[in-house]
Parts: sequence; structure tokens; C-alpha cells
Amino acid sequence: MNRADFASLGFGVGLRRPHYSHVLQARPKMDWFEAISENFMVDGGRPLEVLEGVRNNYPIVLHGVSLSIGSADPLNRDYLRKLAALARRFEPAWISDHLCWTGIGGRNVHDLLPLPYTEEAVSHVASRVRQVQEMLGRHILLENVSSYLTFAHSTLSEWEFLSAVAEEADCAILLDINNIYVSAFNHGFEAERYLEAVPAERVVQFHLAGHSDHGSYLLDTHDHPVCEAVWALYEKAVRRFGPAATLIEWDDHIPDFATLAAAADQARRRGEACAPAVDTRGLEALSDDA
Ligand SMILES: [Fe+2]
Repeated sequence: MNRADFASLGFGVGLRRPHYSHVLQARPKMDWFEAISENFMVDGGRPLEVLEGVRNNYPIVLHGVSLSIGSADPLNRDYLRKLAALARRFEPAWISDHLCWTGIGGRNVHDLLPLPYTEEAVSHVASRVRQVQEMLGRHILLENVSSYLTFAHSTLSEWEFLSAVAEEADCAILLDINNIYVSAFNHGFEAERYLEAVPAERVVQFHLAGHSDHGSYLLDTHDHPVCEAVWALYEKAVRRFGPAATLIEWDDHIPDFATLAAAADQARRRGEACAPAVDTRGLEALSDDA
């Protein structure tokens, strides 16, 4: 894959049900929207009408939560056929999902579970990503998840695992800055080490979100504004990787659209203030700031 083949979308927000009417009727200023793929993998009705209306006015990307790329179950071909059909209809700038597993034995636990970070898991996931990319006819983005446990038999760090999967699968990376921050706190690693290790030429998108502080651990709840520490980490990420499409995620206690739009504007201001003046998308231009 080549990072330059992916569009420079700018700054967007997740498309959420409470805002459907406002987005369709008022057509608020927004660079792009990220739609949860599964919400639109239906045969017809209101959801598809909404997505069609949004797509007529904005670029979109499709972001999935059920690919379960790390599972030991066979790939869900029916799911992938539906996803491919959705992509054919709405022509998203790209398709993303998470580097995790969400079920086993045909059961979906509706949670994004971390994998053991081993060479065996790298090969397993990478071969599945290649199959998915073949079925979809495009490179996908994989997102790092937040986690609350690690496997005793892991032999790689999380950033080594993510990087190895992306390299072996030849896929792109959606770097969730809040997830890095949450996992760094929960597991006691330096978030900056994560940023330094991920291959810059594969980072196509950032996620920003709010989390909950439970004292001894952080929980990735997506129900708060982005905190200052995550904004600071985002700025480091932009210095390291250069400008990339940035999205505000907010999934619970969803505020009015103006609040979301203000967060996207803040990402634009903070991102543009520390990004290289010219978007060369070249590593040479970024390495001085890394
Ligand atoms: Fe995310």
C-alpha cells in the first residue's frame, strides 16, 4: 500500500443517530463522516436513506466493529459480502476495523478484545487481513484497541505487534491516540515509544476520543471530551506522522452537533499548528520532528 493513495480527508466526526436529521437538513460544515459499517448492513429502510443523503454531501469512511480479524473462527464470508456491497454502493474513502477479536465459536461478545502479541498471532492475523483485502478489492485500515489485560505468553510489545501485522498484511493503520493513552496508563508503558515505533508510511487516520478515569485504570468510554493529555499526545503524533485524516469519536452521552464540530475544529487548529507546513506525506519531512 501507499499512504499517498489515500485521500486527505481533513477533520471529521462519527455519524451518530441523534445527528442524522441535522446533518441531512442543515448540511453543517464538516470535512467528512465516519459511519459504523454494521449500522448500515441492512436490506433497506431509513439507515440506508440516511447514509445516501450524507454521502451526497460529504466524503465518508466505513468503520467496522465485527470483522473479528484476530479470531480463530473462519472469516465470516457473509459479513464480508455485505460489507463489500455496502462499499460498492457508497464508495467510502476507505474501510477500517480493529486489530482484535470479538468472538469465538460463532458467538459475538460485542467487545474489542486484545490478542496475544506473538509471531504466531502476527501470521494468523496478517493472512486473514490479506484475504479480507482480496475480497474487498482494497487495502483496509486496522485500528489499535484499548486494553485492560495482557497475555503472559506475549513475546512482542503492542506496537511491535501492530507494526508487524501491518507490514506482513500490507495494510494501513488507523491510530487511535486515546487508545494508546489508555493502554499506556493501564499497562505502564510510554505512549511516546508507541508513536516512535509505528511505521509512518502506513498511518492514514487518527481517532480522538474521551475516556473515564477510574483511578487505578482508565476506561475507553467515548463519553467525554478529549482530555488535555490526549490532545498533547495527538500533537506529538502529528509531528511524528504528519497530517492525517482525524476523527472525533463520541458514542455515549452524545453532545449536540455543535460540540462535536467544535472538537473537530480544535483538532484542526492543534494539528495544523504542529504539522509540517507542506503536506509532503514523505518520511523525510517528518523525521526531524520525530
Ligand atoms: Fe477508535
